[in-house]
Amino acid sequence: MTEPSPRNSHETRVFSGVQPTGQLHLGNYLGALSKFVKLQDQHECVFCVVDLHAITVPQKRNVLAENSRQISAAFLACGLDPEKATIFVQSSVPAHAELAWILSCTARMGWLERMTQFKDKAGKDAERSSVGLFSYPVLQAADILAYQATHVPVGDDQKQHLELSRDIAARFNRDYDAPEFFPLPEPLIQGPGARIMSLKDGSVKMSKSDPSDLSRINLNDSPEQITKKFKKARTDPDGVPQEVEGLAGRDGADNLVAIYAALAEISKADVLRQFGGQGWGVFKPALADLAVAKLSPIAERLAQFNNDPAELDRVLRAGADKANAISEPVMQKVREIVGFWRP
Ligand code: TYM
Repeated sequence: MTEPSPRNSHETRVFSGVQPTGQLHLGNYLGALSKFVKLQDQHECVFCVVDLHAITVPQKRNVLAENSRQISAAFLACGLDPEKATIFVQSSVPAHAELAWILSCTARMGWLERMTQFKDKAGKDAERSSVGLFSYPVLQAADILAYQATHVPVGDDQKQHLELSRDIAARFNRDYDAPEFFPLPEPLIQGPGARIMSLKDGSVKMSKSDPSDLSRINLNDSPEQITKKFKKARTDPDGVPQEVEGLAGRDGADNLVAIYAALAEISKADVLRQFGGQGWGVFKPALADLAVAKLSPIAERLAQFNNDPAELDRVLRAGADKANAISEPVMQKVREIVGFWRP
């Protein structure tokens, strides 16, 4: 995993997506969005609200539309700038669905059967899950490859899907004798924010779908809620260790230190140099203050975007036009490579 070197041409193009399935949380912010904001200053970037992915499990029409709007507003509130990056909703760009079909004829059943996220989400009821949930990672590959993207910032949970995207790209290039047509996308999964765990159970990731709201910090939580949730976060009777090795086997403690490090943009070792030897009664309020300082401005901007729906619509429509302008020429070449006849 190498950081892309700054270039202005399409030699480097960053793509990533976020599902519109509920409120964004601190894991999404630290693992993905905060990184998108940095990357937009250095590279050509394309960021997408992936509503086609969301319908792989049942959704209510109004709720889905509202969530797409909320996540789009959250992109902007976190600092994504439509002047710098292309920001849009997936279903407004036809290339995603078309390429997903083509790539589903390239991907192999066995590759998809190995995807742990499908196994986790489908559980014991795999027979009753939608075909879309099974082929979800093919759509993810299509998202990336429709832009011939070279780098993909994501949290650690997306690693396997990214490996699959690389396999699909390589197989397409080989099967259709189109060497290097699709770049093999590099995942960007770095730093202590790449895997933020539940505040209630340090062995499972922080997730939108966790039934306990105390397990996560939502981007629109009030300062009081943030403080309360960190206060109740699970740790252990030992205090903050002096060295990173002292976090081994202590997943709750490790998670809080990782969150502090990611928010402060320092290493875990630096956090421990500052707090080592203290009790959690000292560390947790300091962590809550830091989180409030970082997240409150985002919550305020989110409220502003929610008050101006016309501006949000305008930004997203312009983003879809830009995304179409990039992906359609790629799709024209794909159709040619595959051999589709357009009379
Ligand atoms: P999604 O919507 O579940 O999550 C959005 C981003 O947030 C990251 N993330 C986390 N990072 C650290 N700690 C956590 N606890 C945590 N939870 C979530 C995710 O890794 C992700 O980067 N399949 C993707 C969406 C997608 C996509 C794409 C991503 C669709 N097409 C193409 C990249 C490229 C997903 O469900 O993310």
